[in-house]
Amino acid sequence: MPELGSDPRRRRQYLKALGVDIYVRRGPSTVEAAEAAEVATMPEPVAVAELRPRAAPVSRAEAPLPGPEPASREFVAPAVAPTPAVQVPTDWTGLRDMVRDCSRCKLCATRTQTVFGVGLESAPLMVVGEGPGADEDARGEPFVGRAGQLLDQMLAAIGQSRDQNTYIANVVKCRPPGNRDPEADEVEACRPYLDRQIELVKPRLIVALGRIAAQRLLQSDAPLSRLRGPLYQYGAGRTPVLVTYHPAYLLRSPREKSKSWDDLKRVHQLLRQPA
Ligand code: URA
Ligand code: SF4
Repeated sequence: MPELGSDPRRRRQYLKALGVDIYVRRGPSTVEAAEAAEVATMPEPVAVAELRPRAAPVSRAEAPLPGPEPASREFVAPAVAPTPAVQVPTDWTGLRDMVRDCSRCKLCATRTQTVFGVGLESAPLMVVGEGPGADEDARGEPFVGRAGQLLDQMLAAIGQSRDQNTYIANVVKCRPPGNRDPEADEVEACRPYLDRQIELVKPRLIVALGRIAAQRLLQSDAPLSRLRGPLYQYGAGRTPVLVTYHPAYLLRSPREKSKSWDDLKRVHQLLRQPA
């Protein structure tokens, strides 16, 4: 297994930011100690086949799939009244232009600007958040506020960044007023855009950050605690999906930080498996 994270210093920073305890077993350096802790807490080895397409949710036997079938559009019943079908461009420029001028839902009335997505357009890792907050609405880029800084640290800890090898997008492209959760009709109206982004990026792995992204991708209304754990598949491409905590939640709930670190190690491991 290659070293976790390309830059040990940044990785340490992240661990510190998360408050993850590093138990020194032997060896003088913090990095070695971190590796030792990692070995101690590493989940079961993941089968090489895990990233290959499968029919079912790729889940641990003991983790029951909550509610409906896993994400696959064939099985999906619309959660709300279907929005009219829409032709969405199949190229990045066309898609970006369409989103920029979009008024398919009521969020268009209160946004400053749409927040399309950012990162490498052919990234092996795609991260999906909920929707823009105030900072993102002002800047036009996802995850640029406090939660975004933590997300960047989380990614850096496993050698990922929006500049190099990760694409970041949200379930809805416009800020819900007062940072409320996006409503079902808004999520549905914005669905074709995220779907097209996923089709264009063709990531090897999607990480859903938090309940809203997880429920959208898995077509479920289960709580995050039940969705986190199994590896799912999304859409016709059967892209593997892993669910983890939203960084904004981690800022509020320190107790989940070590579990978040477990998830990140799994992301790292999945990305480094042979295709
Ligand atoms: N939270 C999100 O889910 N997305 C953002 O872009 C910023 C904060
Ligand atoms: Fe369009 Fe999505 Fe913005 Fe709604 S949230 S106006 S569907 S881009």
